[in-house]
Amino acid sequence: MRLTWLGHACFSLVGSRTILIDPFITEGSLPAEPDIVAVTHAHADHLGIAAQLSKKTVAINEVAKYLAAKGVPAEPMNIGGSITVDGVRFTMTPALHSSWLEDEGPGFYGGVAAGFVIAMDGISVYHAGDTALFSDMQLIRDLYRPDVALLPVGGCFTMGPEEAMIAARYIGARLVIPMHYDTFPAIRQDVENFKRAIERTTSIRVRILSPGESIEVGPESSGECDGSERDGS
Ligand code: NI
Ligand code: MN
Repeated sequence: MRLTWLGHACFSLVGSRTILIDPFITEGSLPAEPDIVAVTHAHADHLGIAAQLSKKTVAINEVAKYLAAKGVPAEPMNIGGSITVDGVRFTMTPALHSSWLEDEGPGFYGGVAAGFVIAMDGISVYHAGDTALFSDMQLIRDLYRPDVALLPVGGCFTMGPEEAMIAARYIGARLVIPMHYDTFPAIRQDVENFKRAIERTTSIRVRILSPGESIEVGPESSGECDGSERDGS
């Protein structure tokens, strides 16, 4: 699976299907047409261009209804549930955060915020969405054994690096990729320090990506997913 950070909380996962998570595109253009879009919550920096893309879109009921009204083929689900779309398994996890659909006028309730565990081609990726640290992240480890954890570290609107260090331990993924930092002044962070602090005290590896950068993630036995560059073969 090829995992690309498109800035902020936006990632693409390219394997047997192309998945786009939280399509708020801050840098350049989409690397590939997604088959499936996943939206963690309604805030504009996550919903992004989901309506314009109009692909199969996995989201919580309230956001799915909003998108469906705009003609998007939405796949509604809710916290704790799993669905399979085109062979890709989406599990919606809790997130400690708010959600608001910032449409015309004052906007409206967007359901609650969520995260996803996405399992494709034998690899499990946890995208935490926007969230505070919560101890039930340990259940995400026990139930879904994520290989990779995409964790917000920017602070202010989500957990910061100190909380994310505990989150990384709770989730137990072998690779952590920080997200949701440096996009705006309010969420500026020293992610190199975050990486050093985790790697000094655990066997978890942290890969800091530049927007647009990709890594190849393999099953545990392949020895890939150590955060090193691969040629994409
Ligand atoms: Ni948010
Ligand atoms: Mn956000």
